[in-house]
Amino acid sequence: MSLEVDGVKSAVEITSHVDLEVLADVYRRVHAADLHMVDHSDPSLEDRLRWTAEAPGFEAAIGYVDGQVAGTVMGCPLPPDTLWWRDLTDVTDPELAVEWEGRTFAVCEAFVLPEFRKHRLGVRMMSELLDSRSEERVSLAVTETNTRVWHALQRMRFQHVGDLVPFPGWRSHRMLVRALPLRSSR
Ligand SMILES: CC(C)(COP(=O)(O)OP(=O)(O)OC[C@H]1O[C@@H](n2cnc3c(N)ncnc32)[C@H](O)[C@@H]1OP(=O)(O)O)[C@@H](O)C(=O)NCCC(=O)NCCS
Repeated sequence: MSLEVDGVKSAVEITSHVDLEVLADVYRRVHAADLHMVDHSDPSLEDRLRWTAEAPGFEAAIGYVDGQVAGTVMGCPLPPDTLWWRDLTDVTDPELAVEWEGRTFAVCEAFVLPEFRKHRLGVRMMSELLDSRSEERVSLAVTETNTRVWHALQRMRFQHVGDLVPFPGWRSHRMLVRALPLRSSR
């Protein structure tokens, strides 16, 4: 769907076919200042993007500005044997980490080029992607230091359900969950 905000024309496409080289290039521009960190380098960016794109049920929202990829929100459904919740701290609900088919869509990546931020592209990609899903809830992980995004997601009624370290050496991440559809008031 196309939209113009503050003179910037953007479009969002929902797809399961993505160009991983293009997305890796955009990711490197988004995280240019932090690429030396373990969070962005081990496992390699290429491996991470490929694992997500090859997961059963994978789907992405791709954001375009002037026909060029400006960002993405992408993820996949969690299978019953997922490692998504491994080593989660402070779990109060024993059912939280139990997965069944159709329960959870995990957002694995979300990024927009700095020059195209604040034009609602992130929110549009998120809502158009999740509108196309039939799962009961969405989950994503936010680095504990990423307080701006963490507060924005809380405003979108995501709940903090615990913390974990996704891969050895990474910073701790806050694990967030929200009921779907996004339009619901739960
Ligand atoms: C987070 C990000 C994708 C938002 O893109 P954007 O196009 O500027 O988003 P919008 O214009 O729709 O912004 C509306 C608000 O919702 C938040 N938001 C929008 N989409 C989001 C998404 N998919 N995930 C998390 N937060 C999001 C934004 O942070 C913003 O809050 P702010 O105004 O307090 O900064 C972008 O800032 C980015 O790429 N940041 C660096 C990477 C990152 O932190 N990714 C999030 C990992 S969970």
